[in-house]
Amino acid sequence: MIKKCLFPVAGYGTRFLPATKSMPKEMLPIVNKPLVQYGVEEAIEAGMTTCALVTGRGKRAIADHFDISFELEQQISGTGKEKYLESIRDVLEKGVFTMVRQREMLGLGHAILTGEVLVGNEPFGVVLSDDLCLNDGMGVLSQMAELYNQFRCSIVAIQEVPREDVHKYGVIAGESLKDGIFRVDEMVEKPDPDKAPSNLAIIGRYILTPDIFDIIRETPPGANGEVQLTDALQTQARKGCVMAYQFKGRRFDCGSVPGFVEATNFVYENIYQQD
Ligand code: G1P
Repeated sequence: MIKKCLFPVAGYGTRFLPATKSMPKEMLPIVNKPLVQYGVEEAIEAGMTTCALVTGRGKRAIADHFDISFELEQQISGTGKEKYLESIRDVLEKGVFTMVRQREMLGLGHAILTGEVLVGNEPFGVVLSDDLCLNDGMGVLSQMAELYNQFRCSIVAIQEVPREDVHKYGVIAGESLKDGIFRVDEMVEKPDPDKAPSNLAIIGRYILTPDIFDIIRETPPGANGEVQLTDALQTQARKGCVMAYQFKGRRFDCGSVPGFVEATNFVYENIYQQD
């Protein structure tokens, strides 16, 4: 069973400035819940109750969010407002939160490597909280954890995207095994649309085997001059096996303003429960 999930949450969130000047982008709310809490709830549902946060400067609000607020508890306890704390109390009851700071922003691969000290030598999940994934049934990480039990190798979540958008993503090509499961032979980070091997884009959910850390250490900077997880996964795919999984559920790109607004409307209309 996979017990740990890594959350790279050190990024700047420039697309949401000035909102993100002194507030972490992961704390922006989709209606009444911060983006990162959705990801944490998905991990906990999948049994990954140790949430390892790779944070950075200016991200203390995230650490505080996943801790008790003594004054708030005192004030609200026994009143009709307790229901507003239900979801975060539940997360705090089930989850354990560990943290390390990423001092320099050298790419997603570097962020994952920074988390090695929290993960150790075991398979682990990764959630990029900008990608909000919502389902009626099992969450995406739960679906992937099930697949891991079958294949015992790294798994990336994928989704078809329009050709003109492939340059925003890591893109895979591979052999289709069965309903939405591919054995990856090729992966490219942010390809030009005319050079992309397919329109199957990586979405921010991964299960990684711990040999990825040594591979990242040997991976030179790639697209945008950053150490790319996709490049390390390409090496892993060549040496052994990486699977890609077209998950069930809906994904919102909350790293972009239109995706964020779309997610907000969706949650307000379908999930949020008004008083
Ligand atoms: C990262 C990954 C990319 C993936 C994307 C999903 O890119 O590097 O492979 O497709 O997340 O959201 P970023 O969005 O950080 O540029």
